[in-house]
Amino acid sequence: MKLKTIECARRSVRKYCNFFYHKNCENIMRYGGIINECILMKNMGKAKQFIKTNELIQELLHRYAYDHYPRLVCMSSGGDRRNRELSSLDLIKSKIWVKVAQKGALGGFYDDSRYKNKHLQEIKDSGFVIIENFLDSKLSRKYCSAFQVNDPLDSEYYESWTPLNKKIGADMIDKTILREIIGELNISRPYPRTLLNYVRANTSPLYKGVSDWHCDRYIPCLKGLYFPDGCDWMPFERLIMPTKDALSLPLSVMKTFFEDLPSQLSAESTYTAYVKPNTLILCMNAMFHRRSSKDEARPGKRKIVFMDWNHQFNRYDLLLSAVKRCLI
Ligand SMILES: [Fe+2]
Repeated sequence: MKLKTIECARRSVRKYCNFFYHKNCENIMRYGGIINECILMKNMGKAKQFIKTNELIQELLHRYAYDHYPRLVCMSSGGDRRNRELSSLDLIKSKIWVKVAQKGALGGFYDDSRYKNKHLQEIKDSGFVIIENFLDSKLSRKYCSAFQVNDPLDSEYYESWTPLNKKIGADMIDKTILREIIGELNISRPYPRTLLNYVRANTSPLYKGVSDWHCDRYIPCLKGLYFPDGCDWMPFERLIMPTKDALSLPLSVMKTFFEDLPSQLSAESTYTAYVKPNTLILCMNAMFHRRSSKDEARPGKRKIVFMDWNHQFNRYDLLLSAVKRCLI
């Protein structure tokens, strides 16, 4: 009986190994062939196309390479943001990055100094600034079609994420009021990554945990939310408070997702982002916010261009900016 069981287990392992070998051998040969061809023929276009269309590579790039800005929760604590526990490794790592951030390009958000630019100062005082009529009529016309979404309208719920052309991110800095704002921060990579997000729901919206209060990061980190058509449905909510106070919250609070604001923040005022078309909200994302309230249960649609700087200005740039500021 015992022998029979061992033989059966052996056969299963052999069968699985054969299956795994054949399945992966095919992939390895295919990928190896394509990579080899790309290198030998110096066909960079084909290599780029392969990287762009391969789901596994894209997943790995998004997870580990695109955004190198320090995160509070890393693999040491399993990435769990539902409880306040912080591993000692994360705690030590975070304290070091806070020191670096205090010296770095956005270090002004920690102290009592004043920014020359009134919008930057408003972010420092309240955590965000609302800029209406963000794009002039020429830019609005130029990018009108880029901000269009092809909604198939054949489902109860539809959401899409579209990366926009790098030129749009550059124009949104060089040809707008952001030129002065970002200029004063002296960020070495001033152009943000831009992503067009569209959500439409015929009944009540679908929530995916983003309706909880949270901070994206625990050190200063800019984010822009541009509403080409305005917003009258599922508005973002943000806490109104000086960045200096928000950044001094315990790290265990900053790492956690909360259904209701934690006791130390429950007395603070909040802002609900119902905005006019062509409005930008430029904010400090290391402050508590949520994508919408859970009470929003009616049909609607919402379109946003997310502007992320932490995908370009990464932890190496942050470190470099801290070293530079210390030397000057
Ligand atoms: Fe967020």
